[in-house]
Amino acid sequence: MATEAPKRGLLGRMMLRKTVAQVQRDTQTSELKRSLGPWNLVFLGIGCIIGAGIFVRTGNAAAMHAGPAVLLSFVIAGIVCAFAGLSYAELSSTLPVSGSAYTYSYTTLGEFAAWVMGSLLLLEYGLAASVVAVGWSGYMVSLLADMGIHVPAALTGPMGYPKELADGSTVTTVFNLPAFLVCTALALLLVLGVSESAKVNNIIVAIKVSVLTAFVVVGGIIILQNWATFAPNWDPFIPPPTGQQGEFGWSGIIRGASIVFFAYIGFEAVSTAAQEAKDPGKDMPFGVIGSLVACTIIYILVSIVLTLIVPYTDLNVPDPVAVAVDAFGPQWAWFASTIKVGAIIGLTSVILVLMYGQTRIFYTMARDGLLPKVFARVHQRFRTPWINTLVVGLAVAIAAGFFDINFLGDATSVGTLAAFAIVSLTVIWLRQTHPDIPRGFKVPLYPVLPALGILSCVWLISSVPARVLIFFAWYVLGGIVLYFLYGMRNSELAKGRDVMPDDETPYFPEDAPRDVTGEPIIRP
Ligand code: ALA
Repeated sequence: MATEAPKRGLLGRMMLRKTVAQVQRDTQTSELKRSLGPWNLVFLGIGCIIGAGIFVRTGNAAAMHAGPAVLLSFVIAGIVCAFAGLSYAELSSTLPVSGSAYTYSYTTLGEFAAWVMGSLLLLEYGLAASVVAVGWSGYMVSLLADMGIHVPAALTGPMGYPKELADGSTVTTVFNLPAFLVCTALALLLVLGVSESAKVNNIIVAIKVSVLTAFVVVGGIIILQNWATFAPNWDPFIPPPTGQQGEFGWSGIIRGASIVFFAYIGFEAVSTAAQEAKDPGKDMPFGVIGSLVACTIIYILVSIVLTLIVPYTDLNVPDPVAVAVDAFGPQWAWFASTIKVGAIIGLTSVILVLMYGQTRIFYTMARDGLLPKVFARVHQRFRTPWINTLVVGLAVAIAAGFFDINFLGDATSVGTLAAFAIVSLTVIWLRQTHPDIPRGFKVPLYPVLPALGILSCVWLISSVPARVLIFFAWYVLGGIVLYFLYGMRNSELAKGRDVMPDDETPYFPEDAPRDVTGEPIIRP
């Protein structure tokens, strides 16, 4: 149905929003296959969550910032994610066909907020995929070296960084070739179709969970049998601060939390798959909360074993979990290789799911006219957004090839924390504006928990180094400029079709059928 767009001011234009009915209709007309059940979604979540955060970045967080107390960093980051997770669960059960945080924003806060959210999600998914690809490269280069294959050191790191070799000499790295290659290969797999990828994903999740469980069980037994040997590694549990902000002491624990926060990113990736879920209304909260809880337990156990088995100062390496296994003793050398293989497989699945999420967000934005239509073009045979996927794959590969993992990781964390804060804000906004709509799940202790969700995200953002925050500020500013230059002019919603203006002026007939929110039901 085309309705003439009413005249509205700039603010009204920026706050145009989709109705719940529109989102439902968009989903019904999606060309994507509905092939994912509830456990597929939990596995999709775990596939995205357990990755470079625990396998790689935990080492840096412990060695440079928190020491053994990185365990507390995990607890803090987990609590921050739990606040956001509750908000995601409420929104996905309230807006039952939601595609992602982007769609939540479009349906509630309006188009401008949705655009900003879309740009934050590009950091959360696209950039995170690059981080994980760099982690993948670290384990792969290490495994190949075990097998006697040595990738030239200059091709194993970001542009212009010094790298110390085993013989004590130093080379300057120019490009991370393995990271680049894995991204391009996985983009091609995604072009071939989600249901095939989801089946592979389930197997991979089983492998990485088994590897980490074996690490905890074997490491735990060794620690308990040799408690006197390993206990000193936890003394002191919180290393004294060096005087530099974020280096040990409590400020180091908080800085560590902003680093290992990366390890939790992904539980909400489940919500980006709503258009391919069999029953989004029921399956979304199950997928989001289920995968978050499972991973939190695993992380806490892994970080306990990791920091007890080796001195934290030895953990600033590309493959800290494998280094920890080396400390199990020479008879466990085969297990170190197994860990590397498991990590490589696990990290592969994370890159896959993150890129998948990114392409689906771009797909939705292109259907809304906020991105060029080519991003929504679906391949006739594979039924996947193939041009979109190839563009995303190439961009992720280039970022992984040239940039440093710490910078990429911090930028991802800041973008994601900002997105989580907006999601909690959305819950508050929706409760205020639509108090009576049915909610399958409600955040307890409202409004305290969503408010704490916002505050805790801002708090963790403030612990990130200034250069990352400056990059982030420019990035968001650039995104806003693009909105006014492109998104605002091409928005489908703004063309007068199916529009619900910010002042809720009812230009639908009085007796139009209404949905549960009281908004008119639009029939295409
Ligand atoms: N949470 C994901 C990881 O740690 C992004 O790799």
